[in-house]
Amino acid sequence: MTALRTKRELSPAPRRSDSASQPERPKRLPRYTSYPTALQFGPLKADQARRWLDEVPEQAPLSLYFHIPYCDQLCWFCGCYTHISNHYGPVEKYLSVLIEELRQAVARLFSDEVARRKVSHIHFGGGSPTLLKAEDFARLMKVVSETFDILPDAEIAVEVDPRTLSAEKVRTYAEQGVNRVSMGIQDFNPRVQKAINRIQPAALIEECLGWFQDVGISKINFDLIYGLPHQTLDSIRETVMQSISYTPSRIALFGYAHVPWLKKHQRMIPTEALPDQALRQQMFAEASAQLEQCGYRAIGLDHFARPGDPLLEARDRGRLKRNFQGYTNDPAEVLIGFGASAISSLPGGYVQNTTDMKDYQARILAGRSAARRGVGLRPRDLLMRTIISDLMCMFEVNPEARAKQLGVTYDFGREKAGLHRLICAGYMCQDGDVYRITEAGRPYLRAICTLFDEYFPQDSDILHRCIHESEG
Ligand SMILES: C[S@@+](CC[C@H](N)C(=O)[O-])C[C@H]1O[C@@H](n2cnc3c(N)ncnc32)[C@H](O)[C@@H]1O
Ligand code: SF4
Repeated sequence: MTALRTKRELSPAPRRSDSASQPERPKRLPRYTSYPTALQFGPLKADQARRWLDEVPEQAPLSLYFHIPYCDQLCWFCGCYTHISNHYGPVEKYLSVLIEELRQAVARLFSDEVARRKVSHIHFGGGSPTLLKAEDFARLMKVVSETFDILPDAEIAVEVDPRTLSAEKVRTYAEQGVNRVSMGIQDFNPRVQKAINRIQPAALIEECLGWFQDVGISKINFDLIYGLPHQTLDSIRETVMQSISYTPSRIALFGYAHVPWLKKHQRMIPTEALPDQALRQQMFAEASAQLEQCGYRAIGLDHFARPGDPLLEARDRGRLKRNFQGYTNDPAEVLIGFGASAISSLPGGYVQNTTDMKDYQARILAGRSAARRGVGLRPRDLLMRTIISDLMCMFEVNPEARAKQLGVTYDFGREKAGLHRLICAGYMCQDGDVYRITEAGRPYLRAICTLFDEYFPQDSDILHRCIHESEG
């Protein structure tokens, strides 16, 4: 989800007023795909997004994200921003507007007549980008390659719904330089697949893998989910075993985010069939152990990769990063998102396009920015973002060193008191000025990060947060 792509915050912590008025909803911890998280996004001043775009340094390599918010069938568990369309017309129309948005951004970025901007990473997410016809995918890529300088070692990745793939689409991906795909597998068990309204037999996965092999696309990620209805420790073990048998380069093991108050269709999921928090944690622990026994190495919150994978190398060199797609080794500091709901990460702040499809199309066709919400970055946000990223990626942090490096004066008194409580509980250890999360503390990674989240209510004790609010 790769992760959710835009892998947005799927398990947002409710604002304090929400939790007070609706106590039955469990408080959920941010996944920290950004900091400040999407919960802090608010309305932006007119032209703010375009001014932040103007500040992007000329030589900075860029990462591009294209959101294709269409699927032909709704999975009951889905937490993504998507629309169900039974015909191709709306998708085709959307694509034309998306290309127009790209052209407008390019005109803005190149208004000072700089050389073509370098691109180190391109990601097609959704929804289901595999819904695009082969010729339409090629049309979009043609505009991208004509306007940007795609670096020779750039990663070009596509999120794949196996049910909408074809040999022709895969051939086009290869011709257009796609070199990584993330397949939405979720679970191989037929009972689980039925309960989530996503039937995809193993034979279909094997056919897709054959198509990728034929064209030489060898970097294959599998997305699996634990915490789905009817899953048991045995069924998860079988799904993980079957996944390993196909030798994907990476496996993401996402915890199911059940947020029926935000995603109404999740009410179709039988709540009584959902594993409880203790079982979820056990599922994750056992599946992780199984993956590691079979040669995969754990990365951050929920990723696993085979030895030699660039994500592992990036982690070992301290270059692993977290973004809306999950974990990445992408060197770009600037991410520009295109499409309805897409989020950009710019030097000045985060910007999210409108999630209203009509509004998105009307704005772009009128030559206006589609950005509706966002948040500016203060020096303190940059400090906390770096610290949270260190914890999410490396499981350790030296807060004082980060503050010094970023030139921010900050008294970590409150945070250190919390860290010491975590040390006493055995969830963290200290080595000089470095605080490290222990094996016992790993299930509480997201809770531990809230210590440094200045927007997260600090009204509960950190240990209470770990035990009662962690999502495994
Ligand atoms: C945009 S989807 C991937 C592409 C394609 N639409 C598909 O489903 O195959 C990205 C991934 O997000 C994950 N995902 C979606 N909804 C989720 C939820 N509620 N909780 C956890 N993971 C979820 C799934 O693993 C999915 O493969
Ligand atoms: S195919 Fe993917 S994006 Fe579409 S509904 Fe299913 S999980 Fe959501």
